Amino acid sequence: MNTPHILMCPPDHYGIEYEINPWMSRSCQSDREIAQRQWHDLRTLIEASGAQVSTLDPVPGLPDLVFTANAALIYRRWAVLSHFRHPQRQGEEPYDATWLEQHGFHVQHAPEGVFFEGAGDALFCGDTLFAGYRIRSDARGHQRIGEQLGVRVIPLELVDGYYYHLDTCFCPLAPGRAIYYPAAFDDYGRRVLAELIPELVPVEESEARRFACNAVVIGNVVITNAGCPHLQQQLRSLGFEPRETSLDEFVKSGGSAKCLTLRLDGEEAAAWKLAPDEQRDVVARA
Ligand code: ARG
Repeated sequence: MNTPHILMCPPDHYGIEYEINPWMSRSCQSDREIAQRQWHDLRTLIEASGAQVSTLDPVPGLPDLVFTANAALIYRRWAVLSHFRHPQRQGEEPYDATWLEQHGFHVQHAPEGVFFEGAGDALFCGDTLFAGYRIRSDARGHQRIGEQLGVRVIPLELVDGYYYHLDTCFCPLAPGRAIYYPAAFDDYGRRVLAELIPELVPVEESEARRFACNAVVIGNVVITNAGCPHLQQQLRSLGFEPRETSLDEFVKSGGSAKCLTLRLDGEEAAAWKLAPDEQRDVVARA
C-alpha cells in the first residue's frame, strides 16, 4: 500500500488581511505564534497518522496560500488548477501550478471563464466527484471538469455563506460513507446525498460551526479542530479513530484541518488510487 501523501504550506505569511467570507474580520487578527504552533501540531498529528507531508513555500502577500486544499483538484496524475473567485487569492495560482508541475503532475487549467476552487469544492466519494457551487466555484465548470476527467459529477448547491466551500460541510470517510452538515445544502442536495451515500452521518450545528466536517482522513484516523465531542463519539462507534487539535487561528479565516491539506495520492474515500510506481515518482520529486 502507498504511504498517504499530503501537501501543506507553513503559515509564515498567514493573517487576516482581507474579508472574503463571513468568518473573516480584519479586526479579529490571528496570532502569528499561536498559528505557527497550531499548524505544526496539525502536521505532527498527520505524520503520526502515517502520512508523508510535503510543503509549498510560503509567499509574502499571499496569506491564504496555507489553505492548500484550494490549490487544485487532484485526480491520478492530473491536477486541475484552481481559478479563484476573489482577486485577493488569484495570485496563488502560479505558485500552485509551479509546485504541482515540478512534482510530476499534469497541470490542467480550470475551464475558461469559470471559477473553481480545487479540492475545497470537489471531493471524491467512491467513483463520484461531489462538487459544491454558487458561493465560490461555478456549476458549469464542474460539469466540464467531470467530462475532461471522465468521472461522474454531482453538483451540490451551497446555500449558507458560512459553509462557502464544500469541504466545510461535507467530508467523505470511505466509499459510501460521509459526514455532512444538512443545513448547508438545499432539499435537492440533501436528497441526492442521501440517495448516493448509504451511510451519511449528520453533524450538529454547534459542531459544524467548529468545522467538524473539515476533517483530514488518513486510514482510520479522522483529524478535526478541537471542540467536536459528539462527532468524535459518532466516529468511534463507526470504528474510526478521531483526533482533535486546536485550529482556532485558522477558523478566523474560515478554514480548519482539511483546508490546510491537499491529498496528493487520492483521498481515502476515493475509489481511485495511484499505482505504487506512479506514487514513487511523485514522492521522489517531493
Ligand atoms: N480565507 C480562505 C478563503 O476564504 C479560507 C479557505 C478555506 N479553504 C477551504 N478549503 N475551505 O478563501
